[in-house]
Amino acid sequence: MPSPIRRIAISTGGGDAPGLNAVIRATVTAAANRGWECMGIRDGLTGILQPERYPKGGGVVPLTRDQVRGIAHLGGTILGTTNKGNPFHFPTLNADGTTGETDRSDELLACFKRDGIDALVMVGGDGTMAIAHDLHRKGLRVVGVPKTIDNDLDKTFTTFGFDTAVSFATECLDRLHTTAESHQRVMVVEMMGRYAGWIALHAGIAGGAHAILIPEIAFDLEQVAVKIRKRDADGRLYSLVVVAEGAQPRQGPRAVLEPAGSGHAERLGGIGEQVARELAQRTGKDARVVVLGHLLRGGSPTSFDRLAALRFGTAAVRALDEGLSGVMVALAFPNVNYVKLEEVAGRMKAVPPDSDTLQTGRDLGVCFGD
Ligand code: F6P
Repeated sequence: MPSPIRRIAISTGGGDAPGLNAVIRATVTAAANRGWECMGIRDGLTGILQPERYPKGGGVVPLTRDQVRGIAHLGGTILGTTNKGNPFHFPTLNADGTTGETDRSDELLACFKRDGIDALVMVGGDGTMAIAHDLHRKGLRVVGVPKTIDNDLDKTFTTFGFDTAVSFATECLDRLHTTAESHQRVMVVEMMGRYAGWIALHAGIAGGAHAILIPEIAFDLEQVAVKIRKRDADGRLYSLVVVAEGAQPRQGPRAVLEPAGSGHAERLGGIGEQVARELAQRTGKDARVVVLGHLLRGGSPTSFDRLAALRFGTAAVRALDEGLSGVMVALAFPNVNYVKLEEVAGRMKAVPPDSDTLQTGRDLGVCFGD
C-alpha cells in the first residue's frame, strides 16, 4: 500500500466544459471528509510551472470546503484551464521571438515533492489523460477524470459536458425549425465535436434535423440536395442540416481554420458555410448558416452532467484512498468504475457504424450524406 495521503492537488485542463466546477467541489469535499488538504492548480499545470504569472503565490491555491460551496451549478472552471500547457512539451518563447517547447516534467514532479502534494486529480479530455498517463509512468500518483463536450474519450459511457452541449444544441434546432419554415429556407447548423460526430448526431436526431453530416460518414452533398428536393416536392419547403465541424466531404479536405502548431491542435471550423453555399447552388433555395461554436461549452451543467461530475470527483478521491493510481474514473452505465489510463491515452471514441442512434436516424429518414 502506498504511503498515506495528506494533501492532493486538482487541475482542470483542455477546453472548458459544464461540470468542471462540480468535479472541483466534489473532489475538495470528499478529500476534506478524509482529513486531506486539497490544492487547486491554476490553468492546467501552468500555476505550478509558471508561478511568476500569478501574484502572491496564486498559481497553486488551497481549496477549502468554503471555497467550493455553491459552485456545482456554475459553468466554466474556477481554476481556469488551458490547452497549451503540456509539461512534456511546454511552450517556450525564444529570444528571437520564435516559439519552441521543452520537457518540464521532472521539474513538475520536483514541485509536487517540494509542496508536499501526494497525488494529483487531473480533469480533462484525451490530451489531459495522455499527460496523466505519462506522469503516472514517471511515478506521480494520479487519477484522471473524463471531461469533454465532444464525448470522444474511450472507455467511458460518456464524459460530463456532453449532455449539456447536446441539450443546448437541441434547443437551438427547435428554435431554427420555425424560422426555417417561415422563410422556406435551408438552415445549416455547424456544431463542435472535433473528429467525432457525437454532438451533431445526438442533437440532430433529438432536434429533428433532416440531414446530419458527421466525421465518421464521408458525405456527398448531392445526397443532401436530393433529400431537400424530395422534401420540397412533398410540400415541406424547409430543411435543417446539422454538420459536425469535423465532417468529412467524400471529395476534398476537412474545413480547417488554423493548422496545428507548436503546443496546440488543429482548429476545425468553416464547414457550415461551405455546405450552405453549395446546397444553395444545388437546390436553388435560400440557405443560412448558424455556428454554435463555444456556446456549446457555456452555461450551467444539466442535472445529468452535474451528477456525473459529482460522482466522478468523489470517485477520484475514493480511487486515491484505495491506493489506486494511473486510472481514469469512468461511467460504466449505470455505475462508476476505474479504467487504466494506458487503455485511454491516445485513443478516440468515434460513433461506431453499428450505433443504434445512427440506425434510429436512418429509420426516421435522416440523410447522412452517404
Ligand atoms: O474539445 C472541445 C472543443 O470545444 C472542440 O469541440 C473544439 O474543436 C475545440 O474544443 C475548440 O477549441 P478552442 O476553444 O481552443 O478553439
